[in-house]
Amino acid sequence: MFVATLAAGAVALPSIVPQPVSIRMATGSFEINPRSAIVVTRETADLGQTLRGFIAPATGFTLPVIRRASGDSIYLRIDKRLTSLGAEGYRLEVSDHKIEISAAKPAGAFYGIQTLRQLLPAGIFGPTVVKGTAWEVPCLSIEDTPRFAWRGAHLDVARYFMPKEFVLKFIDLMAMHKLNTFHWHLTDDQGWRIEIKKYPLLTQVGAWRKDSMLTYSPATFDGKPHGGFYTQDEVREVVAYAAKRFVTVVPEIEMPGHSHAAIAAYPELGNTGQKLEVGTIWGVDENVYNPEDSTIRFLQDVLSEVISLFPSKFIHVGGDEVPKKQWHESARAQALMKLRGLKDEHELQSWFIHQMDSFLTQHGRRLIGWDEILEGGLASGATVMSWRGEEGGIAAAKAGHDVVMTPGAWTYFDHYPTRDTANEPHAIGGYLPLQKVYGYEPIPASLTNLEAQHVLGAQGQIWTEYIPTPKRAEYMAYPRFSALAEVVWSPKESRNYADFRRRLDVQLQRLTLLDVNFRAPKDSD
Ligand code: ACM
Repeated sequence: MFVATLAAGAVALPSIVPQPVSIRMATGSFEINPRSAIVVTRETADLGQTLRGFIAPATGFTLPVIRRASGDSIYLRIDKRLTSLGAEGYRLEVSDHKIEISAAKPAGAFYGIQTLRQLLPAGIFGPTVVKGTAWEVPCLSIEDTPRFAWRGAHLDVARYFMPKEFVLKFIDLMAMHKLNTFHWHLTDDQGWRIEIKKYPLLTQVGAWRKDSMLTYSPATFDGKPHGGFYTQDEVREVVAYAAKRFVTVVPEIEMPGHSHAAIAAYPELGNTGQKLEVGTIWGVDENVYNPEDSTIRFLQDVLSEVISLFPSKFIHVGGDEVPKKQWHESARAQALMKLRGLKDEHELQSWFIHQMDSFLTQHGRRLIGWDEILEGGLASGATVMSWRGEEGGIAAAKAGHDVVMTPGAWTYFDHYPTRDTANEPHAIGGYLPLQKVYGYEPIPASLTNLEAQHVLGAQGQIWTEYIPTPKRAEYMAYPRFSALAEVVWSPKESRNYADFRRRLDVQLQRLTLLDVNFRAPKDSD
């Protein structure tokens, strides 16, 4: 259901992104002033502080967060009767003397707060006091709940290390868009970015490379060393920061491919015995982990530390783009295949992922991987991220597995946002304009209703081969994540690109005040 109604004499519909399920406009407004209070319960006390923090910078008001009503107030309430709106749904009611946000769970109340921010003049997103603004919220009633549970944003920090401060900002922008799953791509051929106590060389060696590729063809390089990693304390800080914003951090530790940096740190993990330097060339790398029991133990040790840092139910093990050449040419790998009764390298890849699936399951977690994990037989508990198209997702859902839709053609935000590539910073290729993202439908048409229930949601990807800085990442990410947010949150039948563009004008004002280096879409894109 999608409802938007205007009462006689009501002002125009507000510009909320993503569009709520239902908005009923009334007349009049509530004005937040220095005498307003935020009224909380024990369960919403933290959220009261969050709301206060959102209101203070631009208004200069430090609203009291109190337990008992006093005058005109903003109420934050948990109301178990609202379970029909789900754990993330909320109701927001504004009258001329009261604002009330209620939800069955704190996550819903948090999203109500995010909507309230967007009902205020855009200046509320500014970092310093704006004088002469009436901080008015139009009288209305909103009921809202997300369409999908997995509303994801991926960030590759392996190709280019992204400072922790930027990761926190990225999470804030996600939360503003009601995105709830941060897929942190922490390891790849060109860098290992998470401290692992048992294997210090992963970061001492694997986090640093001597050069970076600027263009692939012709191959050009910047000639500059690059690197960086997150300590476990920093990882914990990011996870806690995200949790306060109802964002789950899903870490990705790539295997058995995209493992060149780890093999550079520990050559015994490779197939050739050759001493490698950390990768400097983008693309698919032949260096993959060997299938020794000791390598499986190494990876499970790594996952043990990862599990202790990340409360996420899902742990991502990569699994994409695994060239079989080194396994094919290695007498040892062939002998191990024979010993384990595996008939080809695809079965070996599947065996590898199975080892991780049972390990994660034993530890109460669930494995997720890119769609190549389907090859050679999908592990029983595995969830599939469908990136090479929709087919992997369709096959997995039909086989009864959960899927997250990440098809490149609609969700790879490293692709060019326009056909006018000559006037854009160099990108990996592709063509993914805003309107195409907006038009994406995560449920593949060939799934039955029952199979479609396995589609947990969708996610946008920021691969950083040609995205060396946070500013460039923002340029590729926004406003395409604004469009994706609506794909995964709003009812399918409410999607209307012209209306989205109208609301996006205001969203871009907000992003400007948040110092986001977005790319303003052009009609010619
Ligand atoms: C991928 O883009 N290799 C998952």
